[in-house]
Amino acid sequence: MKQILNVKTPGKEYTIEISDESFSKLNKEIDEMTRGQKRLIVISKKVYDLYYNRLDFSEDELFILKDGEQEKNYKNYLKIINRAAELGLTRKDVMVAVGGGVVGDITGFAASTYMRGIDYIQVPTTLLAAVDSSVGGKTAIDLEEAKNIIGTFCQPKAVFININFLNTLNQRQFMSGLGEVLKYAFIEENCEYKTPLYLFEFLTLGCEKVLQKEPLTIIRMIEYCLNLKISVVNQDEKEAGLRKVLNFGHTLAHALETITKYKKFTHGEAVIFGMFFILKWAYEHEYITYSYYRLSTELLEKYGFKPLNKNFKPEKLTEIMKKDKKAEDGMITFIVPSGKKKVKEIKLTPAEVIYMFNS
Ligand SMILES: NC(=O)c1ccc[n+]([C@@H]2O[C@H](COP(=O)([O-])OP(=O)(O)OC[C@H]3O[C@@H](n4cnc5c(N)ncnc54)[C@H](O)[C@@H]3O)[C@@H](O)[C@H]2O)c1
Repeated sequence: MKQILNVKTPGKEYTIEISDESFSKLNKEIDEMTRGQKRLIVISKKVYDLYYNRLDFSEDELFILKDGEQEKNYKNYLKIINRAAELGLTRKDVMVAVGGGVVGDITGFAASTYMRGIDYIQVPTTLLAAVDSSVGGKTAIDLEEAKNIIGTFCQPKAVFININFLNTLNQRQFMSGLGEVLKYAFIEENCEYKTPLYLFEFLTLGCEKVLQKEPLTIIRMIEYCLNLKISVVNQDEKEAGLRKVLNFGHTLAHALETITKYKKFTHGEAVIFGMFFILKWAYEHEYITYSYYRLSTELLEKYGFKPLNKNFKPEKLTEIMKKDKKAEDGMITFIVPSGKKKVKEIKLTPAEVIYMFNS
């Protein structure tokens, strides 16, 4: 099965392919898409170990990136740029990111800055990268003090999602991807997709099939999430307004990832904690009804997720949030549920955020 989605941002149009076809077909499609171009393939070490003999890349065109969020740093960024220069990539050439969100983000950033910007293709191999990071053109690297603090908006040339990669994903990483999937269920109304997708209901009723990784369900789930994301990105590529809804759960998530030096939680796990936290806060402050609050937390719990049970010092979390790029004029931005499948942006002072954690 193969689904094709189209992204149309002001500067670029591209297609996203979601399929469960063979790797030989994937190789062929990447070859066709990059015909006549020199390529630098940035591939995750784990994916290289697992898939190299099934992927049609030559050793000479590879840059193998060690795994982990801590690798999304400027040292590796410079190494990728150096490798591109060594291979003689010109403005007409292309980088290909094969891996999870870490590889996708750093490769996108390298491609968007090398020679003031060359093409790049995303081949996401984690669920999280498939449903979120590979699409929409946000590229980034981290500093120790702040995640994704250096980056660009630069859309890829194409995205090839082959769900066969997900078979080797460990359970923790699969569940991490579901963190971002579930996020879309809570923001569907804001995305203004042309028809209702009923993602909330799909994920509630289809929970077993999703957890069993039933291929058609997984393809449909990815398609729904991307339809919502594309709808947002097409309206607001550079996050001037609407796109902020995609940050639901992320204000706390980024602070948790930073405070634990990206070592304790996966991104999706942190997003889940962020969503539990803000759903409870929204209910307690009468942004949402009790029944929607219960339905929402039941959905998260159905997938086996639980709220964060460790306490971090609110002052420290708030300190990190102040440095987040979503903070403006000393105010911290939260995306809070404001109705069924709907969210809105609120801005709080650091003192209010500390109070929020303590109340
Ligand atoms: N650009 C965006 O819009 C955006 C959106 C959301 C998240 N992100 C970023 O994405 C990153 C998280 O992405 P992620 O969750 O994919 O993490 P990741 O890239 O670290 O991958 C998670 C782990 O899965 C392994 N892996 C990858 N593919 C595999 C496969 N097919 N089989 C087995 N193991 C495999 C990796 O080696 C790694 O250990 C974060 O840096 C986050 O900031 C970016």
